[in-house]
Amino acid sequence: MFDTPIIIVNVKTYSEATGRKAVELAKIMDKLAKETSASLAIAVQHADIQKVADSVDIPVLAQHIDPISPGSHTGWVLPEAVKEAGANGTLINHSEHRLKLADIDTCIKRAEENKLTTVVCSNNIETSKAIAALEPDFVAVEPPELIGGDISVTTANPEIVKGTVEEVRKISKNIGILCGAGVKNGKDVEKAIELGTDGVLLASGVVKAQDKEKVLRDLISGLK
Ligand code: G3P
Repeated sequence: MFDTPIIIVNVKTYSEATGRKAVELAKIMDKLAKETSASLAIAVQHADIQKVADSVDIPVLAQHIDPISPGSHTGWVLPEAVKEAGANGTLINHSEHRLKLADIDTCIKRAEENKLTTVVCSNNIETSKAIAALEPDFVAVEPPELIGGDISVTTANPEIVKGTVEEVRKISKNIGILCGAGVKNGKDVEKAIELGTDGVLLASGVVKAQDKEKVLRDLISGLK
């Protein structure tokens, strides 16, 4: 389980944070985490997990794992391999890589067996409830239509965040709750916390910024 409140940056497959650029961004985050004591984590492409994990102390997440055990599964992502590469956790069921509920369940169990913190994405309140019943470490609600946009979910659809917090809390007090989509600045982070979440999951606001450190500093200011 990661410290909260937390800011998780998912670099997706943006060229601005692929390969050595993923390491560069992770190093900026690592420096800021040490300087400010903010809880920061980065979700990188599988090919970059090892080099990022070897370069920083902040938690590193895979962006996906598959619901498989060691054996004959060519081209799939084995939780054990992600762990051995140095990941501390994994996203599961991101909007850009959706899974069936039964597979989400298996992924959570396989991640737990490998001591990987699970951040399971949902697209609405109903899905958040279904996922919470599977007891991941975190549920991250992200309305797909706001992903990659300029308006934060906390402004465009605070109801989905509040509703997720209310419904997940009815199921368990131990599950962390995150929100994401369009999160860009400290005010968005502050609002996310006000709405009852334990932090945010974001991508383009950091990855596509010219001055990533400046944006991260602003985001961190919202945690206070
Ligand atoms: O995983 C985070 C993501 O889907 C949100 O993307 O670009 O709207 O921050 P973005």
